[in-house]
Amino acid sequence: MNAISVIDKKRLNEELSYDEIKFMFEGFLNGDIPEYQMSSLLMAIVLNGMSDKEIVALTDIFVKSGDILDLSSIEGIKVDKHSTGGIGDKTTLIVAPIVAALGVKVCKMSGRGLGYTGGTIDKLESIPGFNVSLEEEEIMRQVNEIGIALTSQTRNLAPLDKKVYALRDVTATVESIPLIASSIMCKKIASGADKILIDIKVGSGALIKTREDAEHLSELMVKIGDSYKREVRTLITDMNTPLGKAIGNSLEVIEAVSILKGHGIDSYLYEVCVELATHMVSMGLNKSLEEARNMVVECLESGKAYAKFEEFVKRQGGNVSSLRVSGNSKVIRSVKSGIIKNIDALKIGMLSAELGSSAQKQGDVINYAVGVVLHKTVGDIVHHGDALCTIYLGDSTDYFNPLDAFEIE
Ligand code: URA
Repeated sequence: MNAISVIDKKRLNEELSYDEIKFMFEGFLNGDIPEYQMSSLLMAIVLNGMSDKEIVALTDIFVKSGDILDLSSIEGIKVDKHSTGGIGDKTTLIVAPIVAALGVKVCKMSGRGLGYTGGTIDKLESIPGFNVSLEEEEIMRQVNEIGIALTSQTRNLAPLDKKVYALRDVTATVESIPLIASSIMCKKIASGADKILIDIKVGSGALIKTREDAEHLSELMVKIGDSYKREVRTLITDMNTPLGKAIGNSLEVIEAVSILKGHGIDSYLYEVCVELATHMVSMGLNKSLEEARNMVVECLESGKAYAKFEEFVKRQGGNVSSLRVSGNSKVIRSVKSGIIKNIDALKIGMLSAELGSSAQKQGDVINYAVGVVLHKTVGDIVHHGDALCTIYLGDSTDYFNPLDAFEIE
């Protein structure tokens, strides 16, 4: 087999065989295929797409490139949840304890944030004392005993995807729905859960910008799940405005606690969390959506969800009562009156990242105490001088003013 002929085949929009895909991608992992040839193939894929058969093949090659977690020592059905990423997305912190309190086992290994989106692990690490690096044996024991563990990855899952993603990032080849589907699903399959719920974020602050692309991604993810006999459900949720009021690690944990304590029930964040938890409970306990939703709401209202959150945070060494936010804050006020039409998620996310809430490049030190809290939401009436948001700064007083993130008419 020869790399040029495989690239040429894809350029001519012909279907590649499993062996041809394996030859190119495995070759890239072991150094036989150079970056320039892999980049060329990736661009041909971006432009011409992939058939379902090719997507399933690529996912399988990604999965087999690394470890595959065996969760069989955890009793019961394990349901995993994944979000394609967005600004202020703290849903895992809320949804995981709800479903664990209802008896669905959650063994979730999450990642750190990079760029303007935060990662669950960074948010958890903002809780003083919280240990994200448990040994695998301890994770399994904890999930069997209290139903939930949220940790960083213990194994080398899908290293080929990691290498390919790094190349996509610098060759303008991230934005391909087939490549995104394979890249996300290979890690979910390798993580070992029986059932998987994917929250596909769509909007200005998300990787996926249009509803049409989100629906296409959803369809592909379900097909990949089918090929592994794993039930995959997807929800498509809005990411044009930040999710919730808080953006930044400690601030987001504080907001998550408030939702778990039953506050904010008329907010979009509450609704998204209830919806996600409903699907996880429905999948994990074989309940109808109506039954599952009633259970989820009761769990929040009765305080059982918050009690489970406290229990697992304590078990992993954390102390929620000592969360810290920066004392150096600045209130941003409206310079006109009107109705808020939009709050640009991307601009708010970039501000928070610039303040230091997430790593701009691998290895950057994070400031857990910085971020933004929104005081208004879309549809609110504002008057000249009203507080729009508070910025929690680090040591520096330097920041860009986010006024133009608020579209007021
Ligand atoms: N997240 C991933 O893990 N992979 C993609 O391709 C895009 C988002």
